[in-house]
Formats: sequence, structure tokens, C-alpha cells
Amino acid sequence: MKKKLKNIIILGGSGRIGSAISKYLELKGYDVYVIDKVKNKYLNKKKSIICDISKSEKFENKFNGLIKKIKFVEAIINLSYLKNKNWGRSFFNLKPKDIKENLFLQLGTNILISKISINFFLKQGYGNLILFSSIQGISAPKFSHYENTKMVSPIEYSAAKAGIINITKYLAKICKGKNIRVNCISPGGILDTQPKSFIKRYKKSCLSKGLLSGEDLNGVIEFLISQNSEFINGQNLIIDDGWIL
Ligand SMILES: NC(=O)c1ccc[n+]([C@@H]2O[C@H](COP(=O)([O-])OP(=O)(O)OC[C@H]3O[C@@H](n4cnc5c(N)ncnc54)[C@H](O)[C@@H]3O)[C@@H](O)[C@H]2O)c1
Repeated sequence: MKKKLKNIIILGGSGRIGSAISKYLELKGYDVYVIDKVKNKYLNKKKSIICDISKSEKFENKFNGLIKKIKFVEAIINLSYLKNKNWGRSFFNLKPKDIKENLFLQLGTNILISKISINFFLKQGYGNLILFSSIQGISAPKFSHYENTKMVSPIEYSAAKAGIINITKYLAKICKGKNIRVNCISPGGILDTQPKSFIKRYKKSCLSKGLLSGEDLNGVIEFLISQNSEFINGQNLIIDDGWIL
């Protein structure tokens, strides 16, 4: 099929990283569509589709409705970050129900989104899917950074993020010969409202900046959706200012 517009779909594109990349790609001339449970502040109403991705049937309907309208999709980026109401409970107090729910929300949803995206890519004969893991999917948390703060790094997060790196490889390989790429980005922490003590300790483990901004990921995302990365497939790109070293 002949490519027309550079349409990009960003799932969970209204958060920290999603807001930065949606604004950036629109300025670069891409047509960005966001599906998120909250509105994207940079896109016009028609391009910011409100939907709870955890309601898989509703999500699939919204996704299919969008595809029908825009037809060709250059890339799908999953930035959605789903969790249940007990997210962040200490490892020592975890309940089976919460483990089950959160592993499904964080990892299972990535598998479902990948299935829906790749089934569509197979029909259009081309595709580029980008999933998001984290430095927590590669290394153990640096627990000392969290001392005397209310911050936590849940074990389900580490498990799901490690899984996302592996399903990226699985998906890339299952798409062999289909003109579809699947890659993963593992960012370091993004500066938000973390306590000063955390920001300081975190920076000591890095090589220059410490916590990143959402905008710091714009370059790598643009590279992955472009033809400049044509033969990068099944990979995990780590953008962490050296945190994992
Ligand atoms: N922020 C960080 O420090 C950091 C670091 C490493 C990796 N990451 C990863 O990057 C990705 C994006 O992170 P972020 O910081 O932009 O997260 P964020 O929480 O700022 O944004 C996530 C978006 O997902 C949306 N969302 C949540 N539940 C949803 C649902 N049920 N249906 C539809 N939309 C839903 C939210 O509304 C939000 O806009 C995540 O996978 C995260 O794990 C983030």
C-alpha cells in the first residue's frame, strides 16, 4: 500500500512523555492522534480521543474507528501507564489480587495493544510499534535513593518492564518478513515532583543531568519512527544518562 500522511498514534499520549512528544511531532509536521483517558493539551479535540484503555472492547472500537478515518499509520507508540488503586503497596504487604491486576494492567495490556496494532499493520503491509520499558526493567531499583521519602518502586513494575523488553524481541521476530518493526525505549526517571533528596541522590548515579525531562526523549522517538532506523528491530534503547552503569 502506498504511504500517504505520516500519521502517528500515541496511546497514553497525554502524560509527561506523551505531551512532550505529541507537541514535538506535530511541530515537525506529523499528524499525531492520542488515545488516553485524559485530554491532550496540545492537540485539537478531534485528535485527542478519550478512552479507558483497560476496557479492551471499548479501546478496540475507538482504535478501529480512528484507523478507519486516518487509514495509513506510520507508527504506534504505547506510553499508557495503567495501574490499579492499590499500586505502590510495599512488597512485604502485597496481595495476590493486586499482583494479578497490576501485572495484567502493566504487561498484559502491552501484549493486547501489540496484538491489535500488529493485526492492523499486517493488513496495511507496514508497521512500526514502539513500547516503553524503563531502567527498572533492566536493573534492580537503587533503594537507597528512596530512603525517607514516600516514593516506591513496585516489584510488579520491575517484572512488567523486564517483560516488555522481552516481548519486544518476540514481536519483532514473529513479524519476520512482514515489513513491521517493534522496538522498545527504556528511559531513566523523568523529573516531576520528586523530593529534593531523591533528585540529588539520583543525580549522583548519573553522568551529567540526572532526572530527564519528557522532551529529552523526543530525539530517540523521532529516530525510531523514521527510516533512519530502518534496520533497528527488536531492540531496547536505553536513555538514562548512565544511571544503569
Ligand atoms: N516518568 C518516568 O520517570 C518514566 C521512567 C521510565 C519509564 N517510563 C515509562 O514511560 C511510559 C510513560 O511514562 P509517563 O511518565 O509519560 O507516564 P504518565 O503517567 O505521565 O502518562 C501515562 C498516560 O497514560 C494514561 N493512562 C493511564 N491509565 C490509562 C487508561 N486506563 N486508559 C487510557 N490512558 C491511561 C494517563 O492518563 C497518562 O496520560 C510508561 O510506560 C512509564 O513506565 C516513565
